[in-house]
Amino acid sequence: MSDTLLRYEKLAGELEGMMASGALRHGDRLPSVRRLSQERRLSVSTVVQALRQLEDRGLVEARPQSGYFVRRLGQQRAEPAQRITPETAVPVDVTQRLVRVLQAGCKPLVAPLAAALPAPSLLPVAALQRLYAGVARRHPKLLEGGSHINMDEPALVRQLVRRSLAWGGPLASEEIVVTNSCTEALGLCLRAVTQPGDTVAVESPGYYLMLQLLETLGLKALEIPTDPRHGMSVEALDLATRNGKVAACMLVPNASNPLGSMMPDENKRRLAALTAARGVPVIEDDIYGDLHFGAQRPWPIKAFDTTGNVMLCSSFSKSLSPSLRIGFVAAGRYRSAIALQKTITSGGTNPVTQNVLAEYLASSAFDRHLRSLRRSYERQVACMGETVSRYFPAATRMSQPQGGYVLWIELPEEFDTTAIYEKAIAQGLAYVPGELFSASGMYRNCLRLNCGNPHTPEIEDAVRRLGAIIAGS
Ligand SMILES: Cc1ncc(COP(=O)(O)O)c(C=O)c1O
Repeated sequence: MSDTLLRYEKLAGELEGMMASGALRHGDRLPSVRRLSQERRLSVSTVVQALRQLEDRGLVEARPQSGYFVRRLGQQRAEPAQRITPETAVPVDVTQRLVRVLQAGCKPLVAPLAAALPAPSLLPVAALQRLYAGVARRHPKLLEGGSHINMDEPALVRQLVRRSLAWGGPLASEEIVVTNSCTEALGLCLRAVTQPGDTVAVESPGYYLMLQLLETLGLKALEIPTDPRHGMSVEALDLATRNGKVAACMLVPNASNPLGSMMPDENKRRLAALTAARGVPVIEDDIYGDLHFGAQRPWPIKAFDTTGNVMLCSSFSKSLSPSLRIGFVAAGRYRSAIALQKTITSGGTNPVTQNVLAEYLASSAFDRHLRSLRRSYERQVACMGETVSRYFPAATRMSQPQGGYVLWIELPEEFDTTAIYEKAIAQGLAYVPGELFSASGMYRNCLRLNCGNPHTPEIEDAVRRLGAIIAGS
């Protein structure tokens, strides 16, 4: 008996050691039970016991008919802590620096670690090509122009309503406005519910394009402390909205950018109730909602909204292709104000692409694609984390994203990622410096890495070289 115990524990320990050293990585398939049993000269039941032990500890997962796969690192990494933010709202000034960083990061030969973009190899380009040709052939009228008002295609609106059943919907079709991208949707919402000089509550650290929108519209940002696991602090938002000076709250509750945090349902419910009671409109960005790593599709705050106070924005840029440029807002009671802003600022949205998207969503292909995409992103984020652990300074902390594909890295205080960026980009290495995720210039010792690409030896080498630059700074 004790001999058996030792044997299976020994095997489990060896496998765990291989995970810690990187010989077995996140998403890798373990050798089959039969092979382990033959090669290690162990009984099948001893091997199964070892694998079950690893499974119980969350290190591997069994997939039906496929075997056991590495689930996460044997060695846990320290996470960044929630930070205290300034109590007053500040004007935003990030655009110029941001544009420079994003443009430099997209140049050929620069390692793609800056903008949050997926690798083309992960996108269903051939299926979209076929749909574009088919839609244009079958519906020539779509190419004949038409009104620039109310160009929301009913077929797409139906699919958006249908898909919302998976997360606590259904949305009402009348509240949907189709947009050119999620960015446009966010901008329309801000225009509809704020005036220049107003204050908007945002996550800290928070998505830089939201800060850019605030800057462009002459709005001030009030940074709300945000937990790397659970998202925006509802207690802090409660305090911040007591004096009636916050005109809107804008956030990414599901797999936030840059933290990858996931707001628990109870917090979403409290946030929806609190903001409704105080008359603070909520602009919610759910672009990463379909890219969760957990078993269940997380619900947006919109699912807990009983008064029409939440504007849910999203697009298919992260889940299907950034080139489609189709997004939407489910605008609740702000629908007519947002529709007006849409008409004034850009007219309609490309009807051919709306119908292509509608046909893709109507097929089972999208859900199949999402299943494999989620697995790829989870694996890529985990591999990036392992690589950073290996090559970055010892006391480096990093996020444990619950979805999406960006990783937030916190270096020890003495490092300045804005200064290091100049050296990195000169050597063809890009990332987004942490201060661009804050209106008040916090997070100068942090950076964000894009994990949208398969973890190739080239990416591994880029992270290794970046680690060396950081160490030498
Ligand atoms: C949270 C978030 N919202 C919106 C966008 C942009 O989406 P779109 O390309 O549809 O404008 C991004 C892209 O990085 C994002 O991370």
